[in-house]
Amino acid sequence: MTKQTKSDKDYSIYFQPPSLKDAKKRGKEEVAVHYDFAIPQELQQFGAGKKYLIRTYGCQMNENDTETIKGLLEQMGYTETEEKTEADVILLNTCAIRENAEDKVFGELGHLKPLKTHNPNLVLGVCGCMSQEEAVVNRIMQKHAFVDLIFGTHNIHRLPQLLRDAAFGKEMVVEVWSKEGDIIENLPRKRAGMKAWVNIMYGCDKFCTYCIVPYTRGKERSRRPQDVLAEVRELARQGVQEVTLLGQNVNAYGKDFEDIDYTFGDLMDDIRKIDIPRVRFTTSHPRDFDDRLIEVLAKGGNLVEHIHLPVQSGSTEVLKLMSRKYSREQYLELVRKIKAAIPNAVLTTDIIVGFPNETDEQFEETLSLVREVGYDNAFTFIYSPRDGTPAAAMEDNVPAEVKKQRLQRLNEALMESSLAANLKLRGQVVEVLVEGESKTNANVLAGRTRTNKLVHFAGPKSLEGRMAYVRVTDAQTWTLKGELVEEPLQLSV
Ligand code: SAH
Ligand code: SF4
Ligand code: F3S
Repeated sequence: MTKQTKSDKDYSIYFQPPSLKDAKKRGKEEVAVHYDFAIPQELQQFGAGKKYLIRTYGCQMNENDTETIKGLLEQMGYTETEEKTEADVILLNTCAIRENAEDKVFGELGHLKPLKTHNPNLVLGVCGCMSQEEAVVNRIMQKHAFVDLIFGTHNIHRLPQLLRDAAFGKEMVVEVWSKEGDIIENLPRKRAGMKAWVNIMYGCDKFCTYCIVPYTRGKERSRRPQDVLAEVRELARQGVQEVTLLGQNVNAYGKDFEDIDYTFGDLMDDIRKIDIPRVRFTTSHPRDFDDRLIEVLAKGGNLVEHIHLPVQSGSTEVLKLMSRKYSREQYLELVRKIKAAIPNAVLTTDIIVGFPNETDEQFEETLSLVREVGYDNAFTFIYSPRDGTPAAAMEDNVPAEVKKQRLQRLNEALMESSLAANLKLRGQVVEVLVEGESKTNANVLAGRTRTNKLVHFAGPKSLEGRMAYVRVTDAQTWTLKGELVEEPLQLSV
C-alpha cells in the first residue's frame, strides 16, 4: 500500500488510485466469502463523541452501501448529524452514471470547502462510483486537494482503518481497488423504517456500451443463497414489511456459482415462503429473464406484481449499438409472456434518448414500443457519454435540441400511459403500506401499493408502518387518492 502527500505529490507512500483498464478485466478467480468481519478493538471507540454526515447520490446500490457505512461508523462510536457545521466526518457517496450526477458532487465539494477552513479536524471523504474513475480521482487531487479521503465501492469494509489514517495523517488517503474484492458478510448495517434493501449480488458483466457500472462495480458476484435467506428471515423477524432484493442485473443471480445449480427464480421461490408481506427486486435485465422466474412470480403471494424491465430503446439497431443483446421483438415477446402469466403485472422501465446515431425513425420506434407495452412509469434519460466506455468513442452526434425534444415527447407519452393505467384503478381497493404523513399535507397519509404507486388518503397516524386498505377515489398521472376501508376479501393490486 502506498501513501500520497498532498504537498509534494509523493505517490509512493499511501496511494492506490483506480484504473479503468484493470476494472474492465474479468478474471476466472474464485470469489471467497468472508464471515469473520470485525472492527479492530482499538478502533471501536475511535468516533466516541464525534459526529458524521453522509450525502448519498445515485441508485439503491449506493443507498444500500450508505447503510453499511453508517453501521460501520456507529460501531466506531460516531453518531449521525444532519448539520454539516457540527460534523467531524462528511462523506459523499457518489454516482457516476451521467455527467450531471458528477457535476452535483463537484458542486457540493465546492460548498464544503469553507468548512475545512473553519474546522481543520474535519475529515472530508469521497466514496462510491465516482471514486472508481481515474479521471475523477485525478481531478479531486488537482482541484480539490482539501479532500482527506477517497475510497471506492470494493473496500467499504476498510473504512475504519482508512478513516483513522485520514484523521491522523496530513496526506490525502486514496485507496481504490480496481479489481473487485471478495464478498464480506456480516458487515454492520444501519437500517431504518419498515422497508429494507437486501443485496443479492454485486457487480455487472453486461457491459452495455454506454454504461460505467461494470467498471465501477466490478464483476458479477452472487451472495450465497443461505446468507440471503438468513438475512430476509431476520428482517421478517424484526417486523420489516417490505424487502427489495438488489443487483444491477438480478436475473444473473447464481450464474457464477460453480458448486450449485441455483438461479434467481429458485431464490425467489425460497423467499416466497418467508413470512414477510412484500418482496420486490431491481433491476432485471430482459435478456436473462427466464421462464422459471416468470413461473415463480406468477405464484404471487408476497412477490409483488411489479416488474422493472429496462428497455433503453425500441429500435433493434440502437439496441445492437448499445449491446443490450435482445431485439425489440424479443423484448415484446417477453412482455407478452409476463402479461400472460401475471395478468395484473405492472411494468416500468428505463429509456435513453439521443444515443449516438439514433435517427428520428428509431426514436419513433421507442415511442411506439412505449405505447404498445403501456408502462405505468419510467425513468427517462438523455444519453451522457462516459469516459472509458465503448459508446464514448462513438460520435455524440444527435444535437442537444433534438435530444431534449425527444425526451419531452417520450415523457408526454409516458404520462399518458401512466394516467390511463391509474384511471382504471378508480373504485378499486388497493393494499397500501403506509409510509407516513404526506409531504405536502400533514392531515393526509402517504403510502405505496404493491405496484409501487403513491396513494394519499385520510387516516390515523397510528397506521404508519402498517398495511391499510384504500378505495381509489381519484387518479392523477403519478398519484392516486383514496379513502380508508376495511380489509377486503379480495384485492385488486
Ligand atoms: N442495471 C440496470 C441499470 C442501472 S443504471 C439495468 O441495466 O437495468 C440506470 C439507468 O441509467 C439505465 O437503465 C440507463 O437507462 C441509464 N443510463 C446508464 N448509463 C447511461 C448513460 N451513459 N447516459 C444516460 N443514461 C444512462
Ligand atoms: Fe449498466 Fe447494462 Fe450493467 Fe445495467 S446491465 S448496469 S445498463 S452495463
Ligand atoms: Fe450510480 Fe453507481 Fe448506482 S454509477 S447508478 S451509484 S451503481
